[in-house]
Amino acid sequence: MKDYKRYTVTAALPYANGPIHIGHLAGVYVPADIYVRYLRLRKRDVIFICGSDEHGVPITLRAKKEGKTPQQIVDFYNELNKKAFEDFGISFDIYSRTSNKVHYETASEFFKTLYDKNEFLELENEQLFDETANQFLADRYITGTCPHCGYEKAYGDQCEKCGTSLSATDLINPVSVFSGTKPVLKSTKHWYLSLDKYSDFIQKWIIEGHKDDWRPNVVSQVKSWLDAGLRPRAVTRDLDWGVPVPIKGADGKVLYVWFDAPIGYISATKELTEDWEKYWKDKDTKLVHFIGKDNIVFHAIIFPIMLKAEGSYILPDNVPANSFLNLEDDKISTSRNWAVWLHEYLEDFTDKQDVLRFVLTVNAPEAKDNNFTWKDFQTRNNKELVADFGNFVNRALVLNNKYFEGVVQVPREYQTIDKNVLSEISIIRDKVAESIEQYKIREALYFAMDLARLGNKYFADTEPWVVAKTDLERVKTILYIGIQIVANLSVLMEAFLPFSTKKIRKMLNLSDEIFWDMIGHSDIVKSGEKLGKPELLFEQITDEQIQKQLDRLEKTKIENKNAENIIPKIKENITFDDFTKLDIRIGTVLSAEKLPKTTKLIKILLDSGLEKRTIVAGIAEHYKPEEIIGKKVVFLANLEPRKIKGIESQGMMLMAENPEGNLSFLITDKEIQNGSKIS
Ligand code: 2FM
Ligand code: ZN
Repeated sequence: MKDYKRYTVTAALPYANGPIHIGHLAGVYVPADIYVRYLRLRKRDVIFICGSDEHGVPITLRAKKEGKTPQQIVDFYNELNKKAFEDFGISFDIYSRTSNKVHYETASEFFKTLYDKNEFLELENEQLFDETANQFLADRYITGTCPHCGYEKAYGDQCEKCGTSLSATDLINPVSVFSGTKPVLKSTKHWYLSLDKYSDFIQKWIIEGHKDDWRPNVVSQVKSWLDAGLRPRAVTRDLDWGVPVPIKGADGKVLYVWFDAPIGYISATKELTEDWEKYWKDKDTKLVHFIGKDNIVFHAIIFPIMLKAEGSYILPDNVPANSFLNLEDDKISTSRNWAVWLHEYLEDFTDKQDVLRFVLTVNAPEAKDNNFTWKDFQTRNNKELVADFGNFVNRALVLNNKYFEGVVQVPREYQTIDKNVLSEISIIRDKVAESIEQYKIREALYFAMDLARLGNKYFADTEPWVVAKTDLERVKTILYIGIQIVANLSVLMEAFLPFSTKKIRKMLNLSDEIFWDMIGHSDIVKSGEKLGKPELLFEQITDEQIQKQLDRLEKTKIENKNAENIIPKIKENITFDDFTKLDIRIGTVLSAEKLPKTTKLIKILLDSGLEKRTIVAGIAEHYKPEEIIGKKVVFLANLEPRKIKGIESQGMMLMAENPEGNLSFLITDKEIQNGSKIS
């Protein structure tokens, strides 16, 4: 394995359009933090980079939904999320923002370099356009049916059901999120990065070069993109929110958010240190991107191609991508409020950041999606943290207080059991290190917990509380070793449980100047040292506390269910002229018959006052044909005729539809003649 001089570790820049939840922590930020804390313990030169991703449609959509400006949205969530990360001990060296001046300059310069190197194709083609909103519809401004799996609410950039990355024009029956109307095609110019030019490079670099050290989910996603054939990809958008395209003839256009966001890692580094270039351009630097699986293509294909095309940057050495975390067997969802929000967690579990870090690491969705349940959270806290870890630490300190007034004794001659337990520590240390270096963070924690289990077993085997009755000299050695194991734990577990290990060190009067190679030593705490007062590291989580969380989720479930049945929102305003285009009239149903081989359709012959016309209506599940003969109905008379099941339908019946989807006719309170206009 190559020895690197320094490390640049990035964690995906979260969109500043909503709060951070446990899925974010488990997927990206906790594993990245553990990796970085470990590197720091090893005294490696490392920078840990993150910040808010403040551009793109996710932001503007949120602003629209909340009736705020995009700037207000990003200012609010940037602060909220920055604090949430700090609260959970995610130890970024910088948490920057893609709205910063240095980012605008860096992203613009990057684009210009590629432009000057003729890396872009300048293409004029037709894209979806909302005529009502006077707006091109890229990415999440458009929804429609996924051409791959048939999901009806796929976005213009991705289907969230099957995960396929899409172009807006791939969608079947596209609809604008602004007006709910069907968009038209309109010509526009954009700059495309020729990903196809780099297929061989990606093939060699990842599929041949990294098939053994990158996670299989990352390599297989890259392979399926290559198999489908890389295509030129637009890196600009017709939007007014983002980094303006920095060349002539690009008015009203901004950089695509996925072009500027990863450059945000570079601009954040520039903000952090004048020496930024060595972290991005020196081949002795190891670049690692921690991301969620939905970001794979951008970090394993598109950003590396951008870096390669620019020419002066290093490429990532690894892109550890986690899968998703579910909550109580259901997909975490911001819009359905199905999540555990970090700021809310701390309201109910004050000072229990480490418990969440621990449970999210034990259940980290490394190889496949995983599940978080409150019951499991309780069990792991009560059994592993309280009974295994906390109990051992507490016992060592309490017994030493009881027998030796808190003073660490001089050990007497070691017995075999003492030597064995001490030699086990460095074996565990090396296993933890090896797992972390391979990004197997979950496995690393499992090994690390072996040291707490080892300590418990040592006390169970040596029984100092029994021996104390007859041989206090022997107890001096046992407790000395117990305290050394506690001290070793405070270093070994630092990356996983930074808050609790700090507390341990305080009790042991150890400074926070710790380093990895201390682990394995049997004299971290010196004989003669008077230890601080033993404090409980973890406490039992009660059934009531868990029930409160489950009740909250149950309430959310009911709210979501009700929300599915609520009265739809009023559509956007139309002009009076728009309204006068509609010719709505009264008519009488002369005859009605169900269309064979259909479940919903009834063919109606209508007296419109001027003529008899045929209308095919989807009402058979609500009315029998004989029930509607003779009824006065309201219909749209000037709707362009269209063929339904081979029959020309000349208009549309207007019906009321309640939230459950039941239809009913509109009635008038007076007798009114056919052909009467509704206005
Ligand atoms: O998926 C997301 O939340 C994106 N904002 C991640 C961006 S990562 C990087 F490229 F900045
Ligand atoms: Zn799909």
